Amino acid sequence: MNKFTKAIVRTPSKSLIKGLSSANHGIPNYELALKQHTEYIKALISCGLEVTVLPPDENFPDSTFVEDVALLTDNCAIITNPGAESRKGEIAAIDEVLSKFYRNIYRIDDPGTIEAGDIMMVGSHFYIGLSERTNEEGAKQMIYILEKYGKTGSLINLEKVLHLKTGLAYLENNNLVACGEFLIKDEFQSFNIIEIDESESYASNCIWVNNKVIIPLGYPEAKEKIVNAGYDIVEVDVSEFKKLDGGLSCLSLRF
Ligand code: GLY
Repeated sequence: MNKFTKAIVRTPSKSLIKGLSSANHGIPNYELALKQHTEYIKALISCGLEVTVLPPDENFPDSTFVEDVALLTDNCAIITNPGAESRKGEIAAIDEVLSKFYRNIYRIDDPGTIEAGDIMMVGSHFYIGLSERTNEEGAKQMIYILEKYGKTGSLINLEKVLHLKTGLAYLENNNLVACGEFLIKDEFQSFNIIEIDESESYASNCIWVNNKVIIPLGYPEAKEKIVNAGYDIVEVDVSEFKKLDGGLSCLSLRF
């Protein structure tokens, strides 16, 4: 894996408190979310990334979960088409930003829908989860674009979780953090699986950044397992984003 050098994040808007949530986890505290977001940016910087911080967008409560609106690769960017109705408008704002970094920019079109929280990169292969947000047509369009650049993709049926990366994280060197339904899927049995207990499932959404792993604060067993696999850990408290089903990965685009 080449190192990541950059990240894009979007500051949470005050409308964050109206973000989508699948369960009653409570309403996020906006001031605390802002503080946590600042610490998250510091964590990315500590892993060697130059971070572009986009301004809050009050029109879109979930727009801080910037990962969902684009897939960034080493030679192209693909703007997604979110499956959540309230998130579709987020893509307009990402176009201009990406044109500063990419010459090759593509889009996923209706009836295809896809959110990049459903996409996990493993080298030049991309696993795409079919979820309530990502449909087969969206995944096929994504793979068609990736194949132009010598990359491949395959589909994974999701059963319970919101996004593929809700329960999976690839840490390079064939090491895969996995939880719940992903532990038994045939597609992942050739990886060295770092199993996360259901009680700490939120920590299975962690991110590899240049040989460090950023994990959510408060999951000691998951932390120990990832440390034992040989990684330096950076912990960040993201409790306010968890209330909206948002994981660590959702808060940034890394490239
Ligand atoms: N609240 C994040 C999402 O549902 O997309």
